[in-house]
Amino acid sequence: MDNFELYNPVKLIFGKGEIAKISTNIPSNAKVLLTYGGGSIKKNGVYDQVISALKGYKVIEFGGIEANPQFSTAMKAVEVARKENIDFILAVGGGSVVDASKFISVAIDFSGDEWDILSKGANINHGVPLGTVLTLPATGSEMNSGAVISRKELNEKRAFGSPYCFPKFSILDPTVVASLPKRQLVNGVVDAFVHTIEQYITYPNNAPLQDRIAEGILQTLIEIGSDVIDNPSDYDLASNLMWSATMALNGLIGKGVPNDWGTHMIGHELTALFGIDHGQTLAIIGPNLYTKLIDSKKEKLAQFGRRVFNLEGDNDLEVAKQAIEKMQEFYTSLGMKTKISELADNAEIAPQIINDRFIDRNWLKLGEKGLITPKVAKEIVEMSL
Ligand code: NZQ
Ligand code: ZN
Repeated sequence: MDNFELYNPVKLIFGKGEIAKISTNIPSNAKVLLTYGGGSIKKNGVYDQVISALKGYKVIEFGGIEANPQFSTAMKAVEVARKENIDFILAVGGGSVVDASKFISVAIDFSGDEWDILSKGANINHGVPLGTVLTLPATGSEMNSGAVISRKELNEKRAFGSPYCFPKFSILDPTVVASLPKRQLVNGVVDAFVHTIEQYITYPNNAPLQDRIAEGILQTLIEIGSDVIDNPSDYDLASNLMWSATMALNGLIGKGVPNDWGTHMIGHELTALFGIDHGQTLAIIGPNLYTKLIDSKKEKLAQFGRRVFNLEGDNDLEVAKQAIEKMQEFYTSLGMKTKISELADNAEIAPQIINDRFIDRNWLKLGEKGLITPKVAKEIVEMSL
């Protein structure tokens, strides 16, 4: 096992009716910026619960944060927060609202060009405290310190992370899952699944506990995935999806083991170029990335096949191939498309653009063994057209 440090200060508040606890977790004299998305919270009753829990607080609302949140929108919120001297941010929404709010939190007191936070990994030394009410189980953003922000005019989608981005608290009430459209539920199941495999399908590293936690998350998602998509108001299914998605990316399972974020890095480019949903990009790229890198990942792919899909056989390469097929079948069974061209008219521009962007950003050796060069990324995208 590799050396590691684990730090996660997020207070997680889980369960039905827990949104009311907002008030015991925000200082009573705080001026709160309430951030949210395109309005789903006003239709499903979450907004009303939040407003009633915020009774007595000074609240400034900032709605309209879009899926794949835009830098320009987040900067409008930063201006409001600076003008109003906001001292707490409450994000109510999915990963997009939470991510935008993390960026807003650290950009408020940032001196310099705020885009540098994303494009240059500029140093961050302060964040306005943030709390979240999660409405979409998928990203794990509610319990991690990362965020992903897009900039349409540059066709860019970039990630950043800072310990200042950890929410002070996150409230996870699984009843919010009931109002999710099927497409977002599918995205959520696949996003959580891929977060788990990107910290697991690398090479054996003598970390059986991390492996078994990862396998437990994967098995749970396979067991409940299609049921929760069909019955999102089933509380037991919704709560297990929510907890699985948080556990998939709260920093625990990737400690002490190699990680490979290649599927995500390539997937983000497809969202930036074509607006394809995040979870859908992962379902397209993942199986092709594993096929391309099967020789270097075959031991863990075979372990994944045997332990998660109960495949049999002694030959790792053969079991690894079947495991990739099973992964693909799982995504397809949930309703995911398998090709970029099913979702974008000009898919053929992607391989070269992604190759060039990876070179520009000096992303020359992604993956746990540095095998995802810009050329390999290009070939994976070509397989996905
Ligand atoms: O905007 P509203 O009206 O709220 O509607 C949203 C949005 O249209 C809707 N929705 C959310 N909760 C709902 C609901 N509709 C009905 N009922 C509810 N309870 O769902 C749509 C999608 O929401 P979004 O927040 O965009 O989805 P998700 O949570 O999947 O977040 C995706 C974003 O997170 C980033 C992705 O790249 C993408 O930008 N990621 C963030 C990560 C992180 N911070 O750790 C890691 C991930 O890998 C990912 O990259
Ligand atoms: Zn993801």
